Amino acid sequence: MTDEIIPSLHDYAEPALDRAFAAVLDEARRQAENAHFDKEAFRLRWLGRKQGRLKMIGDAWLKSAPDEARKLIGQRFNSLKEQIEGYLEDGAQAVQNLETALDITLPGARQRVGIEHPLIKTMHEVVAVFQRMGYSVGVGPEVETDFYNFESLNFPPNHPARDTQDTLVVAGQEQKPLRERLLMRTHTSPVQIRAMEKHAPPLRIVIPGKVHRNDAADATHSPIFHQVEGLCVDTNITFSDLKGTLDHAMKALFGSSVKTRFYPSFFPFTEPSADVQISCIFCNGRGCRKCKHSGWIELLGCGMVDPAVFGFVGYDPKKYSGFAFGMGVDRIAMMKYGISDIGLLYSGDMRFLEQFA
Ligand code: DAH
Repeated sequence: MTDEIIPSLHDYAEPALDRAFAAVLDEARRQAENAHFDKEAFRLRWLGRKQGRLKMIGDAWLKSAPDEARKLIGQRFNSLKEQIEGYLEDGAQAVQNLETALDITLPGARQRVGIEHPLIKTMHEVVAVFQRMGYSVGVGPEVETDFYNFESLNFPPNHPARDTQDTLVVAGQEQKPLRERLLMRTHTSPVQIRAMEKHAPPLRIVIPGKVHRNDAADATHSPIFHQVEGLCVDTNITFSDLKGTLDHAMKALFGSSVKTRFYPSFFPFTEPSADVQISCIFCNGRGCRKCKHSGWIELLGCGMVDPAVFGFVGYDPKKYSGFAFGMGVDRIAMMKYGISDIGLLYSGDMRFLEQFA
């Protein structure tokens, strides 16, 4: 410490004294703020009775000072000492704070690793099955117009088929023409129309997404759920192509022993239409509570694209044919993972979600 330079003082005018004392104070402050602050070393260095820097600077400066400057130096010296004593405490406090913040003896906080939500995981699996068959992937808006959600899919205004999809509409649009009014899409089928408007045939696309219906929530219903839609349009597409594609997809999703059967159904945008059933994955088709003792579980809707739909998008129905299908992702996820209440998929309950980690 003794070999440290003692700043020299030549000018005893007050501003010069102020500057000299400020420089010393600054030096002490920087040392007090050092990350490796050591209270005892700082105290010895600055405030040590015999070898302390403060004492040495004071002695040196007073010794050489003319009488009239002594008082000025003394006053400044006292205040400098007070401030350095303050730094001693501040520095000690800062170190203590840092030590509490970084107590390396505490056990570590476990970092939770995120996982894909079971619903999203299932949706990706379904999409991947079709991607491997050469399908591209598209998405569309969740707030749709009446035209895309219904009219262009061959649900005319006031047609009773609209009643099968209890619709949540955006309020206050009565002054708009019906086809422009906004609603929450009730299915992913409107994106078929948007895709065909954008792309000329041939077309093979799957469309995953969220849909909304005004359904009361219970163990198997949720006002928000998820679908994957599919559309394939080309020359010479037949019902056999539809059957082969969906049979393959169901086997890829549920295992190669699963069987499919096609049951006549109705959708305005397909003709003919069918519901697809798979052999019950819980009892292998023998009959159980899950399949209501029928051996079959209904899983999706499908059909050959109605020529009227091609009319809405400017595809030539004499030249092209196609099939479409739509399936509920939540149902598939519930079956795959043995989930009995759809609400669990939307609750964000960690006790449920952790089981998929
Ligand atoms: N959009 C239908 C629904 O939500 C499901 C559906 C059925 C989609 C047949 C299709 C289809 O593309 O061809 O109930």
